[in-house]
Amino acid sequence: MKFWTVFFLCTIVCAKHEQYMRWRSYYISPNSQDQLRAIGAILQDFEADVLSRPILKREGLVLIKPEQQDGFTKMLEEKGIEYRIHSADVKTALDKDDILIQAKKKENLARGKKELPYDNYQELEIINTYLVDIANRYPDKVTLVSPANSFEGHPIQYLKISTTNFNDTSKPVIFIDGGIHAREWIAPPTVTWAIHKLVENVTEPELLDDFDWILLPVVNPDGYKYTFTNARFWRKTRSINQDPSSITCPGVDGNRNYDFLWNTVGTDNSPCADTYAGSEPFSEVETRVVRDILHEHLNRITLYITMHSYGSMILYPWGNNGTLSNNSVDLHRVGSAMADAIHAKSLSEFPEYVVGNSFLVIGYATAGASEDYAHSIGVPLTYTIELPGLGMSFEGFNLDPSYIEQVCSETWEGFVAGAKLAGELYVK
Ligand SMILES: *[C@@H]1O[C@H](CO)[C@@H](O)[C@H](O)[C@H]1NC(C)=O
Ligand SMILES: *[C@@H]1O[C@H](CO)[C@@H](O)[C@H](O)[C@H]1NC(C)=O
Ligand SMILES: *[C@@H]1O[C@H](CO)[C@@H](O)[C@H](O)[C@H]1NC(C)=O
Ligand SMILES: *[C@@H]1O[C@H](CO)[C@@H](O)[C@H](O)[C@H]1NC(C)=O
Ligand SMILES: [Zn+2]
Repeated sequence: MKFWTVFFLCTIVCAKHEQYMRWRSYYISPNSQDQLRAIGAILQDFEADVLSRPILKREGLVLIKPEQQDGFTKMLEEKGIEYRIHSADVKTALDKDDILIQAKKKENLARGKKELPYDNYQELEIINTYLVDIANRYPDKVTLVSPANSFEGHPIQYLKISTTNFNDTSKPVIFIDGGIHAREWIAPPTVTWAIHKLVENVTEPELLDDFDWILLPVVNPDGYKYTFTNARFWRKTRSINQDPSSITCPGVDGNRNYDFLWNTVGTDNSPCADTYAGSEPFSEVETRVVRDILHEHLNRITLYITMHSYGSMILYPWGNNGTLSNNSVDLHRVGSAMADAIHAKSLSEFPEYVVGNSFLVIGYATAGASEDYAHSIGVPLTYTIELPGLGMSFEGFNLDPSYIEQVCSETWEGFVAGAKLAGELYVK
């Protein structure tokens, strides 16, 4: 009986992730600017999939295909770059992740709780059901907006939360999105947790009195679904209309698709690449939704944050070459306030946040990112937050789901600090 249960579970669970069999994941730690620069080229040459960018004195994590592993490690050794194996078989590690997720699900159900978008890594339907439910339960404060469907026809949905129905134009707007990169599963829960804290478990009522909020947990629903059904490490959208080869290589990197120095650096012209910028700026309906929100409320958005993982970093413009914007003093001040507030509630297992210009921190240029676009059109404070994920003590690819609530609640403290300081700086 027991054997058959295990066998049956395994045929469901263990048949997954086969495309990652014999892939390996490596931690790499550059110890100098020279090594950091060398790593950029090595990662490209050996077709590494970068899950967490290595930065100076902070390990990054990359996936390497079986046929590239020997060349990759040989090259690192030649350059004297430190590395260690994170997982010798990525499929096995992903199977372990799934077991933890299943266990968390059982634990939640045993407690008689209904499934919530921030109590585990949840499928798109649970997140969308939560948004609808919140809008129905708090009609005086919350409006559900479904401006468009994704390429594959899933609704892209966000909540507007306001005590004055967005009519008081003297209030600043705070806009937070998540899930543009499909595989970064820890990002959407931090956005739905913010919803929870604004209307269900209100401990900072002034944040709703003083600000209007826009919260968009899953910018890229097609990609998000695909990470559950087909490929855990899918990053892009799922469009197939960009280029003739998009049929075999679907999708665009949403965070290279914005109209900021589009496709000039940090992108790849092949639709098969993970950093493909698309056929033109805003080729993707998913990024157009974010663009339209930014423009609709442009004169009122003081703070825009896009949630990503991993890396424990708070990054601000400009990402293309490390030039600082004329608002860099405030950008750094508010970024540091967020990091300090998070740190005060964080766990010692998580790395401390690094705050800085995106290019200078990661040593790698990007163009077409939403943080830069929003700032370029006039939003004074814009950030990419790379949430904590893998630290020294984590083996899998998704932070153990029992830590999701910790990440959500400490990140919320960052939002609170960021909002308050943004209010002081930008409300006349
Ligand atoms: C507030 O805005 C809504 C639409 O956003 C409008 O229907 C309503 O009449 C406005 N109320 C006031 C008091 O201006
Ligand atoms: C919010 O959640 C905390 C922790 O679960 C709880 O102690 C507190 O009573 C809740 N507060 C409100 C206002 O719901
Ligand atoms: C950085 O990029 C911007 C935009 O292309 C350009 O105007 C500027 O001169 C560059 N600065 C440096 C130091 O390269
Ligand atoms: C700051 O730069 C923006 C463009 O990024 C420009 O629109 C604005 O006028 C500049 N402000 C000052 C005070 O120079
Ligand atoms: Zn990302």
